[in-house]
Amino acid sequence: MIIVFGSIGLDIVQSVRRLPRPGETVLTADYIMLPGGKGANQALAAARAGAAVRFVASIGDDDFGRRALVNLDLAGVNTTEVVRRSRPTACATISVDSDGENQIVVSSGANLETVAEQIYPSPGDLVLQQMEIPPMQIWAGLDRAAERGATTILNAAPFQPIPASALAKLDVLIVNEVEARMLAEDLGLDATELPGACAKVQQHFATTVVLTVGANGAMAFAHNQALQAGVLPIRALDTVGAGDAFVGAYTAAQSDGMSLADCLRWGSVAGGLACLKPGAQDGMPERAVIEAHQHEITIRPISE
Ligand code: RIB
Repeated sequence: MIIVFGSIGLDIVQSVRRLPRPGETVLTADYIMLPGGKGANQALAAARAGAAVRFVASIGDDDFGRRALVNLDLAGVNTTEVVRRSRPTACATISVDSDGENQIVVSSGANLETVAEQIYPSPGDLVLQQMEIPPMQIWAGLDRAAERGATTILNAAPFQPIPASALAKLDVLIVNEVEARMLAEDLGLDATELPGACAKVQQHFATTVVLTVGANGAMAFAHNQALQAGVLPIRALDTVGAGDAFVGAYTAAQSDGMSLADCLRWGSVAGGLACLKPGAQDGMPERAVIEAHQHEITIRPISE
């Protein structure tokens, strides 16, 4: 069972010709409102990839909260541990420009009231977290997962400094280039050479480190191997949620007992296909679609 412990919200997505500069207003005709939040997105991606998923989070007692749960319920995610809180459901304003580049502001709302006592992992479960709930609850969630014999995966997005004690409890850490750079700076590592920094984090904390590099694929640094994955040959329309699709499908593959190479393949297929539809959740592929495309992802060892 995968337990996703994290954020949920509603995304207000605006297509703009170009992203506004600080102090600038840009006009656009329409907007769409879609379910989002990194936790919910990753729970959905894992469920679509075929995993059994429990989602543990907080929403407000409002219409945004009800709308934010729709896709999860349709995908068969167990949402009975989503609690209604006094703050309103989180909301993100997302601007996407004509090159598919985006800018996101998240108002955290009820996500700030999410507490680690909401999760009850069992041995063999896999607990997946992101960083859109209060950091103290993330670390406490890790403690609860590790104490109860669950596997722990953290997607350090959006990045906040991670205590060494938390890094040491992680089985898998997934970061993109921005997050890897901030992590390296925080740990006093050379942030100009990210693969090297990730390899050092792996060695020091005995944590598998996965680095996603957008259109350049993904890398994984594990105890006895380092791998580089390619990408699907696609033209990205909207990269919002691509990272979440990668993380959810990677986690689903790991919970299925697949090899590191196959986890990377699944994550890379899902991340690529998620870029073909607007918004975070609509492009997340079903298991059969991932299986049909997985052979398109090349995997090769990274030499020292
Ligand atoms: O990763 C994409 C997500 O980040 C969006 O769905 C938005 O809610 C923000 O949290």
